[in-house]
Amino acid sequence: MQPHEPTSISEKRLAERVARGGITLPMLPEVPRRLVTAASSDTTDARSLAELIRRDSAVAGRLLRVANSAAFGGAVRIVSLQQAVARLGLDSVRRIALAIAVDAQVFRIPGFEATVRVQLDLALGAAWFAQEIARLRRLPVEEAFLAGLFHDLGRPAVIQAAVADGVPEWAVLELAERHHGEVGACIMSDWGLPPRLVAVARHHHHPESAGDAGGLCHLVTVADALAKATLLQGVDVPAGAVQRASAHGPPWLAEGAIAPEPLAELGLYADDLATLLGRADTVRALVRGA
Ligand SMILES: [Fe+2]
Repeated sequence: MQPHEPTSISEKRLAERVARGGITLPMLPEVPRRLVTAASSDTTDARSLAELIRRDSAVAGRLLRVANSAAFGGAVRIVSLQQAVARLGLDSVRRIALAIAVDAQVFRIPGFEATVRVQLDLALGAAWFAQEIARLRRLPVEEAFLAGLFHDLGRPAVIQAAVADGVPEWAVLELAERHHGEVGACIMSDWGLPPRLVAVARHHHHPESAGDAGGLCHLVTVADALAKATLLQGVDVPAGAVQRASAHGPPWLAEGAIAPEPLAELGLYADDLATLLGRADTVRALVRGA
């Protein structure tokens, strides 16, 4: 039997449900939903943002930890969200809070906690690198961050649906690999995220099909590779949690972690990647603090 063929009646049923959009999509809780809305509004100020985040004590507490982490910390310890906004900046706080809120509240899957933990850490890392690449190339920063954060959202969603449907554990990740683009796109569309971000979720493994979101797909591919290079060193990664990457990367990057095509498309050179990787401590602080 080929490894990608459905292996049981339940897996086949799940694959069919995925194909016709029939799986239950995770809800986006209120605070992150409003943070997504706030992300596309120019009228959000520091006070209303702090007010929104304060409604969710888990998010507020972890955001303060990030603000006080070594990578962001100043001499004075931050004790309020208003101070966090002053130190990190309004846009950074909004993005970090969104990442934390999605991470904390959307996916809890018995038996796959470690796998989903790695995936969510990588999503946050990819979001941060996507934002930094966008800064470097003078592209829209907010859009890049959200594209990095959500591009693989379908993975934990498929795992959740597969586990609930009784798919055998060894087949779950293979299913997630195959269907995460389409399922992620359905979720993001359901959450009201912009069509370009939905297109990135759907096509990020095939940027040539992404139309005008192709460049954003390349950006996310590079950001994802940098996140893996930064966050997976020395980490005991559950088997199959991370897709094997291409074997053509610069040798100083984690072995084979990045392909040349997206780098060429973005006009990124080895110097640029070295600069980005030079801030790996900030990413680790963001993820570990989060
Ligand atoms: Fe993916």
